[in-house]
Amino acid sequence: MQVHVSRDAAASVTTGALVVPVFAGTPVDGVSADVDRVLGGAIADVLATGEIAGKPNETSLLHSKDAPFKRVFVIGLGEREKLKPGALAKYAGTAVRYLGKRGIEQITIALPAGLDATLAASFAAEGAFTALLDTTTYRTEPDRPVKTTAVTILTGDYDAAAVEAGVQRGSIIGEAVNKARLMALTPGNDMTPTILAERAKEVAKDAGLEVDVLDEARMQAKGMGSLLGVSRGSDEPATLSVITYKGDPSSTEVLALVGKGLTFDSGGISLKPPENMHEMKYDMSGGAGVIAAMWAIGKLRPKLNVIGLIPSSENLPGPKAMKPGDILRAMNGKTIEVINTDAEGRLILADALCYAKELGATKIVDCATLTGACVIALGHAASGTMSNDDAYVERFLKIVGDCGERYWRLPLYPDFDTQIKSDIADLKNTGGRPGGAETAGAFLKAFVGDTPWIHLDIAGTAYLDGESSHMAKGPTGTPVRAFVTLAEDFAQHGFSTNGVAKAALV
Ligand code: BES
Ligand code: MN
Ligand code: ZN
Repeated sequence: MQVHVSRDAAASVTTGALVVPVFAGTPVDGVSADVDRVLGGAIADVLATGEIAGKPNETSLLHSKDAPFKRVFVIGLGEREKLKPGALAKYAGTAVRYLGKRGIEQITIALPAGLDATLAASFAAEGAFTALLDTTTYRTEPDRPVKTTAVTILTGDYDAAAVEAGVQRGSIIGEAVNKARLMALTPGNDMTPTILAERAKEVAKDAGLEVDVLDEARMQAKGMGSLLGVSRGSDEPATLSVITYKGDPSSTEVLALVGKGLTFDSGGISLKPPENMHEMKYDMSGGAGVIAAMWAIGKLRPKLNVIGLIPSSENLPGPKAMKPGDILRAMNGKTIEVINTDAEGRLILADALCYAKELGATKIVDCATLTGACVIALGHAASGTMSNDDAYVERFLKIVGDCGERYWRLPLYPDFDTQIKSDIADLKNTGGRPGGAETAGAFLKAFVGDTPWIHLDIAGTAYLDGESSHMAKGPTGTPVRAFVTLAEDFAQHGFSTNGVAKAALV
């Protein structure tokens, strides 16, 4: 699909369906009023009769036999004063999914006035792309496909060049999100660590990036005993993919994105109960997010250096599997007592974090479907966010506030460090049930040293059970949007996070 930009007036545009906004508690105005004149007041009627109130994602489909647009799809955007550009991803996505499933191939979207033009267009384009993804690719007959092949965004009163720039950005982000979702939904028999590394190579090369994949022999030589410990239980060898983007060769600053690429997590010897074990095919969502974000960054070419690391392994209870009580030695020399082999994500991330530092990372952010405890704490509403650096994490939380993904900070008090002290090794890999998300964060913190670092626990947000109006159910593409936003912010405003007190919560 392609998203186009047009300066046509909404009221005279020829299209399969024209999408216009309405607001709660506000009479029909702006572009919607222009269209409503052609419809003889039908939009105003829909509001006046209470058929819809203009709340977010309420919809009404009106037919218009005599107008050049065959249909008008009215979508609520809530209160006008509270509108932010990020809402337009759902707006466009809801339109494309509803209309596309009903066979409408060409859709034209009007933007509400009063927003940043580039951001508004970017979110609308992103939402159009993410609405399209078919997640039923393994079916012999697809499930009610979204038939839309062309989406046009009207500039309205906005500057056309700004809208064009936004559409380009949003199309790249939307495509990247879909790449991450497709990788994530691929089941374990078709997504081994080797295949994930192959995908990293393909996707990165398509964006003109360098890729280096470490095999187990190179991991051994680097002393990555923690990652190799997890891999021992499986016949499939582990991989560690490293993707490099050099957008600012004159700078020594490097942002590292690190993503858990566990292609199937059975729990290992500490085997999981069977009930939801199949969902653990999604345990490489973080790795997929890093690959996809690197692709987007390669396409958008912001002025900064970024490396993406994807440690990947299966966690299986094979005859050589690590056992509870075993002690592993990570790349930085720290020893880890394995209490529970199901706490494997932190083990593969530990070595990847050490390696990110060796490769020159000056800021790190990792993402992982790491703990069930985080799902209990925040549900599916937000990703747990932990850090060793207040200034860095506060900046992160601010800039991703409207990116379409939610992040909520959890503390890394010294109490959690105490909880993961081992009697006989430096660390143990679990700290019991209390504060399970935070003790996992505390564990990772032991491998980043002083480097400013953020940990994102996406266990509750990487995939969703229910279908939404704007996206198919399953993988969500979290944290691709946040990662791209962070890279762009470093490119625009520099890496310095001076001026804010360091780590009051650590
Ligand atoms: N991949 C799981 C975490 C997970 C759980 C992701 C639910 C998505 C949904 C992780 O490897 C895991 O098994 N964590 C354990 C840690 C525990 C043994 C300390 C958990 O959360 O139960
Ligand atoms: Mn596990
Ligand atoms: Zn896991």
